Amino acid sequence: MVVLAALPAAGIDLLRPRFVVEARGERADTGWLEEHAPGSVALVSDPSIQVGQELMDAVGTSLKVVSNFGVGYDNIDLDAARARGVRATNTPGVLTNATAELAVALMLAAGRRIAEADAMVRGCRWTEPEADLLGRELAGATVGLVGLGRIARRVAELLRCFDVQLSFTSRSNGSPPPGAERREFEDLLAASDFVSLHVPLTAQTRHMIDARALATMKRGTILVNTSRGAVVDTTALIDALRTRHLGAAGLDVYEDEPHLPDELRELPNTVLLPHLGSGTVATRNAMARLCAENVIAILEGREPPTPVIS
Ligand code: DGY
Repeated sequence: MVVLAALPAAGIDLLRPRFVVEARGERADTGWLEEHAPGSVALVSDPSIQVGQELMDAVGTSLKVVSNFGVGYDNIDLDAARARGVRATNTPGVLTNATAELAVALMLAAGRRIAEADAMVRGCRWTEPEADLLGRELAGATVGLVGLGRIARRVAELLRCFDVQLSFTSRSNGSPPPGAERREFEDLLAASDFVSLHVPLTAQTRHMIDARALATMKRGTILVNTSRGAVVDTTALIDALRTRHLGAAGLDVYEDEPHLPDELRELPNTVLLPHLGSGTVATRNAMARLCAENVIAILEGREPPTPVIS
């Protein structure tokens, strides 16, 4: 049996002819999975589901694969999976462009105060003096990319037509995007008008944007986060936005999703999205197919297309 947290039909349709599929039909939580997964050979999770020792133990020794419907896999306890001989897979590549486009959209939306402006028009406040919402353009700005994985590289490509000065930090020695300058983390923060985060969540990156990192940024810098919420210290972020040291933030991810502190929700200089990085029909369908193909390959004794644990 294969148990699903949430998967579009494009993935379920590949699984059903081969396996007994137990799907809730809506987002399942860890509790539902603990109840319905015992005896399953595969578990389809997503970044909102914690797949830890308890859930793996609840499924039992039948479990062969945890297939994550998402590229990030910080929700899976990889040590626990390894210890049980369970494979883990994710869906890299197919969501690169959708997530990169959303990062650029957040740069534009936060820079041009799109959410504030939309609220003004809806609230019939167009003619009020504060409706003249002056923002900042990308052209001529210095954009700093923290991390240089697939998504950051695609952001760099998309930004080429915006005439920005591009810089990046990266721990690896891959070739830099054309025209982009490699910088140390603190230099990049100090030099950038826009900072966009593209690192996975690990022990090293948790709260890498803390009060000190925010203070290193120039007054008025715009921060965009499409990676993981916990890369940023939310309390420090709220303080920096409240004092306007940080000009604005465009956020798709949060520390305790789907819960947000009221203080963040109430700040006007934010654009807040409900974790939509991969949220296009074409991308979600491609992710669903890849997620299912990973399950099928492992259960049929073949190497999966995109393993996290090999
Ligand atoms: C992922 O797949 O990890 C992304 O966060 C989805 O937006």
